[in-house]
Amino acid sequence: MGYSDGVGPSDQVSVDARRAVEDAVWAPSVHNTQPWRFGLHGARISLSADADRRLDVADPDGREMLISCGAALYNLRCSLRALGYAPRVRMLPDPDRPHLLADVDLEPGEPADQQALRERAQIRRRRTHRGGFRPDPVPAGVLTAMRYDAEREGARLVEAVDAHVKGALAALTEAAEHVQQRIPAHTAEMARWAPSPRTGRADGVQEGAYPQRSPQAVPQTVPHFADRDFARGHGWGVQVAPDAPGVGAGVVGLALLLVSGGDAPADWLRSGQAMQRLLLRAAEGDLAVAFHTQALEVPELRAFISARFCGGGHPQMLLRLGVAEGEGLESVRRPVEEVIEAT
Ligand SMILES: Cc1cc2nc3c(=O)[nH]c(=O)nc-3n(C[C@H](O)[C@H](O)[C@H](O)COP(=O)(O)O)c2cc1C
Repeated sequence: MGYSDGVGPSDQVSVDARRAVEDAVWAPSVHNTQPWRFGLHGARISLSADADRRLDVADPDGREMLISCGAALYNLRCSLRALGYAPRVRMLPDPDRPHLLADVDLEPGEPADQQALRERAQIRRRRTHRGGFRPDPVPAGVLTAMRYDAEREGARLVEAVDAHVKGALAALTEAAEHVQQRIPAHTAEMARWAPSPRTGRADGVQEGAYPQRSPQAVPQTVPHFADRDFARGHGWGVQVAPDAPGVGAGVVGLALLLVSGGDAPADWLRSGQAMQRLLLRAAEGDLAVAFHTQALEVPELRAFISARFCGGGHPQMLLRLGVAEGEGLESVRRPVEEVIEAT
């Protein structure tokens, strides 16, 4: 907690709170909806869900919205620790205001340690990966650390080691993709959040965020985990050189389920924090993570995955982990002014 030139202690807290929010918004969010608002009240930052940005069709209960906000909450905590504070978090502090997700108090802490600084440095570097991975193995130490990260945040990271479990998860993802594409309200919702190129929007999944696919494209991974159809047949997306090494033959990487014991808003918030903590850990190890959450948005398929592959625990995220094939993709965020309310 060092003072900037010409800035007094309470001003410094305000400067640092704003910096932490600038980091928080780089959290992943479902369809890049960025469903959050931050209140700055002196040494307190409050985080609220912006329910206008919830996916009414895919996420009527707001589970994915709260996972996204949980990821932003983890970024806040991480950033504040790196700035030399000991953030004190109260989750869901007011039962009468369910959209108020957390109050975070900036208490004086120890000088930032190297780990906090390294972790914070990953916040803006991390991107969602879409496509195959290189055959390079994932170092066992990183996976062990990611498991530990999940447990420290109150969730569990389960690897689908068995080839048949992995194949079943891929098949369920594909099935969910077909089920969802048959629902006009679902495709309309996708269209809202995967806008056509050059709209200049600072949210949603933009063209620079996913690879272009040709109609005859060979599945990029085996077993094949279906990607979301953000281009919706328009041919949008980043062009991938056809002779790039491994294109069309990318490997699937490790398939991972993030699982929680309960399935209430507090569990979703915790799962979001666990997810972000392990995503930053992966980024620090130069590993990339792809998300495939379609099956978890179809209640019957989610219940099936819970019963068969999570021992009755609640699957919150389905991820693939590996060494990225190809260039990093782009992402956008709204300016923080749009999400900050100062009092
Ligand atoms: C709860 C949740 C579910 C997600 N599901 C998917 C998914 O099924 N497919 C996908 O490509 N990305 C998925 N994402 C990633 C978001 O699309 C991504 O975070 C967002 O577009 C911002 O991009 P960035 O992560 O590169 O910053 C998901 C993210 C969250 C938090």
